[in-house]
Amino acid sequence: MTQNTMEIIKATAPVIKEHGEAITTAMYKLLFEAHPEAKELFKDAEPDQYKKLAAMVYAYAANIDNLGALGKGVEKVANLHVNVNIEPKHYPWVGQALLGAIQEVLGEAATPEIMNAWKEAYFFLADVFINKEKEIYTQQATA
Ligand code: HEM
Repeated sequence: MTQNTMEIIKATAPVIKEHGEAITTAMYKLLFEAHPEAKELFKDAEPDQYKKLAAMVYAYAANIDNLGALGKGVEKVANLHVNVNIEPKHYPWVGQALLGAIQEVLGEAATPEIMNAWKEAYFFLADVFINKEKEIYTQQATA
C-alpha cells in the first residue's frame, strides 16, 4: 500500500465513521442484489452484524498505519468466517459492494482518488483475512 493511499484513508476515516452504518446497510443491499447466494452465508448472523462490520471498517481506516492494533479483532473475525465457510472468492463480492456503498453514500465527495485508495486498502485487508483463514482451514484439516 502506498503512503499516499494511507494518507487518504486516514483523512477519510472520520467521514466513514460518521456514515458507517449507512455505508454497511447499503453494502448488504448491493451484495445481495449482485450475489443472492451470499444470503445463505449470513443466515445465522446476528441482526446487528452490520454494525460490527461498520465498526471494523472504521477501526481499519483509523489504524491503517498501525494494523497491529487490529490483530486480535482479525483473528476473532477470521474464526467466525471459517465457521461459516467463507472463501477467498467471496472477498471481491464484498469489496465491490462496499466500494459501491461508499460511492453511493458519500456521493460527489467520493472522488476517484478516494475510491482508488479505498479499493487498494480493502483488498489489502481482504488479503490479511484470506491468509489468516487459509491458516485456520489448514490447521483444521490436519487436526
Ligand atoms: C475485509 C473484509 C471483511 C471484514 C472487515 C469483515 C468483518 C466482519 C465482522 C467485524 C464480523 C462480525 C464479527 C462478530 O460478530 O463479532 C463479520 C462476520 C461475518 N462476515 Fe465478515 N468481513 C469481511 C469479509 C467477509 C466476506 C467476504 C464474507 C462473505 C460474503 C463475510 C461474511 C461474514 C459472515 C457470514 C459473518 C457472520 C458470521 C456469523 O456470526 O454467523 N465477511 N465479518
